[in-house]
This record gives sequence, C-alpha cells and structure tokens, in this order.
Amino acid sequence: MTTPEVTWPRRSGPIVLRPPTSADLDQVLTWRNRPDVTRWLLRTQVDPERFRASWLASVDDPTDHAAVADLDGAVVGTGTLSVSDAMGQSQGDVWRGAQGALGYLVDPAYAGRGVATAIAGGLLEVAFAELGLHRVTAGCFAANTASWRVMEKVGMRREEHGVQDSWHDELGWVDGYTYGILAAEWRDRDR
Ligand SMILES: CC(C)(COP(=O)(O)OP(=O)(O)OC[C@H]1O[C@@H](n2cnc3c(N)ncnc32)[C@H](O)[C@@H]1OP(=O)(O)O)[C@@H](O)C(=O)NCCC(=O)NCCS
Repeated sequence: MTTPEVTWPRRSGPIVLRPPTSADLDQVLTWRNRPDVTRWLLRTQVDPERFRASWLASVDDPTDHAAVADLDGAVVGTGTLSVSDAMGQSQGDVWRGAQGALGYLVDPAYAGRGVATAIAGGLLEVAFAELGLHRVTAGCFAANTASWRVMEKVGMRREEHGVQDSWHDELGWVDGYTYGILAAEWRDRDR
C-alpha cells in the first residue's frame, strides 16, 4: 500500500500546523530545554544539533508526521504522530501501519491558550481523515494534569492507569496514564 500524502499546512483552531524548517527549529530550541517544559517529558534535555537533524529527517519519513505549530508567525509548539503496526498486524492480511502515537509540546509563554488542544486535534484529523489510521494513543505521567486534560478535551478515553509504570528522574517510579481513540469515535465525536 502506498502511504497517503498529508496536506500541509493545515489550520487547527488558532494555529497552523506545518512540517518544520531549520528556522522553525531555532525558535523551538529557545524554549525546548527549559525546566518547565522538560519536567514531565521522557526525553528531557535534547542536544540542539541532534534534535534539529531528527526533526528535519521526519519531513521525508512516511511514518513520522512531525509538525510545528505557528501562531501568528511565532513557533509556539510541536506535535508528533508516529505510525506503526498494531499488535499482530504484521501477521495478518490487512493494511499496515494502522496505529498512531501522538505527542505535543508548547512554549510555556503560550500555555493555557488551547495551543496543545489545537495541535492534538489537528494531528488526530491527519491520523484519521488523511492517513486512515484505525487508532491513536498518547501517554503521560499521571501528575501531568495539563497533558491529560488535553487528551480528554479532544475526545480521547483513559484506557490505562499504570501504577508506578513510569520512571521519573527526580521522583522515581510514578504512575502513568495511557489514552486512546478510534477512528469511528473521532468521526462520531460531535454526534
Ligand atoms: C502540557 C501542555 C502540552 C499543555 O499545553 P497547553 O497549550 O497549555 O494546553 P491547553 O491550553 O490546550 O489545555 C490545557 C488544559 O489543562 C488545564 N490545566 C493546565 N494546568 C493544569 C493544572 N495544573 N491542573 C488542572 N488543569 C490544568 C487547562 O486549564 C486546560 O484545560 P481547560 O481548557 O479545560 O481549562 C504544555 O503545558 C506543555 O508543553 N508542557 C510541557 C511538556 C509536556 O508536558 N508535554 C506533554 C507530554 S505528555
């Protein structure tokens, strides 16, 4: 099966999502390693050159739909949608790459304005309307309330509360949440 093309740029609420350029990543790197951004991330400090190289490589990777969020000319957030096979999918006679994993980050200067919700909603539309995925999941530390609020606001369902399933560098073993949403649930969300 050929991989469907994604239409970029695309508007989602107040932001425009588009593939990253090197200049966009310069803007992201002004806030990406701040302690208030990294506190609840699995990959905390990033090396600027490696970060830039991997984000630019994503532009040509059909399984890695990474985008920056542009708000009136400022790069205020990032979003990722990584496509993979669902469990058992590689054995069966079905299309490949039916599931997506969603992630998002927002510049703290723009927090609390719905930017992450717009990134998540925009990438779920990419996942289901453009790529035809079956299911998308996202995870976070349970204490990261703003993150799981975003998942709930876009209609994702809490599927797992993992008791001490996640390692946090300062706090040790802490709880994590996993959320999921199916294509049919995304299509029917306003009914
Ligand atoms: C988590 C993050 C993505 C949220 O981005 P954002 O643009 O501020 O999110 P939104 O404005 O779309 O929505 C945040 C929601 O959480 C709520 N919220 C934020 N902090 C909260 C808190 N401490 N307690 C309760 N609710 C909180 C907001 O009120 C809002 O919900 P509402 O619209 O129902 O009021 C952003 O803060 C961030 O990038 N943090 C650092 C990186 C990170 O943790 N990324 C996620 C990794 S899983």
